[in-house]
Amino acid sequence: MKLSIAKLPGDGIGPEVVTQAVKAIDAVCRRFGHEVEYKPAYIGACAIDKFGSPFPEETLKICLSSDAVLFGAVGDPKYDNDPSAKVRPEQGLLAMRRELGLYANIRPVETFQSLLDRSPLRPEIAAGADFVCVRELTGGMYFGDKGRLDGGDTAYDTNIYHRYEVERILRKAYSLAMIRRRHLTVVDKANVLESSRLWRQVAKEMAREYPEVETDFMYVDNAAMKLITGPRFFDVLVTENTFGDILTDEASCISGSMGLLASASLGDHTGVYEPIHGSYPQAAGRNIANPLAAILSAAMMFEYAFGLKEEGAAIRKAVAGSIERGFVTEDLALAPARPLGTSEVGDKVAELIENNV
Ligand code: IPM
Ligand code: MN
Repeated sequence: MKLSIAKLPGDGIGPEVVTQAVKAIDAVCRRFGHEVEYKPAYIGACAIDKFGSPFPEETLKICLSSDAVLFGAVGDPKYDNDPSAKVRPEQGLLAMRRELGLYANIRPVETFQSLLDRSPLRPEIAAGADFVCVRELTGGMYFGDKGRLDGGDTAYDTNIYHRYEVERILRKAYSLAMIRRRHLTVVDKANVLESSRLWRQVAKEMAREYPEVETDFMYVDNAAMKLITGPRFFDVLVTENTFGDILTDEASCISGSMGLLASASLGDHTGVYEPIHGSYPQAAGRNIANPLAAILSAAMMFEYAFGLKEEGAAIRKAVAGSIERGFVTEDLALAPARPLGTSEVGDKVAELIENNV
């Protein structure tokens, strides 16, 4: 197969981890006989520096003309403490989500037996957790009407949802539940929020179309607790944009390192595959960032964008093999084992893929 991938490394550790994902993709392509073409493009702070825009027109064009987007991270500390900054790197990410219609963010959480003592949860609580968060990504407060009143002393962000937005994300969540353990948890705040009551109403209607799936409803505060007291409860968790942002960061700790969590953002056009961690500027250029989340995002790319399940599985197997053998970065290495650098972990994973071990 001929694969065309837009490569958007972005800022901070983005370029380093994307380079390792590329090694894994190349290894898979060599082993399975695919041809791959990368189209590099700018997003985030580096795009502001070069083009004055965090998501330049050229980048959008490249994304739209590719089969998948491999994305690193955006963000730069020089913008963080400047409330007057007119353009911010994060706007590039939001613009990409909007322009590509990426309404469904899929964030799987799984645990690795050999890393259980890295989890902030007790091993018997974290063990066996295996669920997928489906976060709505183009609606709610992130994109609703926002502004200032009273000369700036009053501020508002509108949490607005239309029925079609709720329907399409629930549809995605149900289809995922159908190919997993058939348990869907709809997370909301329906005891307080009108938008949540719409979500619940639509979910109850749709549940009738999926009698095989056990649907339950949970308030977001309760879900935040359940994620750390009994994460095995969840199979597929679906929720709106802001709740999903918060809960997926929380969920990302369960496995022991945020550096393990991959994601896919899917929608109307090309899908985007990215690690859920940010640009981690303190680690940029130091060859210490964990590349496994980016590499696992490449596995999701093979599965979702290209429908190449075996290739995705080959990447997953190599990542698991790399963890088992202790080929990991410092966030995961336990003394006396010596951690490897970002680039060395990338080499090991590529080697394991190519040799099918
Ligand atoms: C994420 C990030 C983004 C978000 C930021 C960088 C805008 O935290 O992808 O979860 O809030 O969605
Ligand atoms: Mn987030």
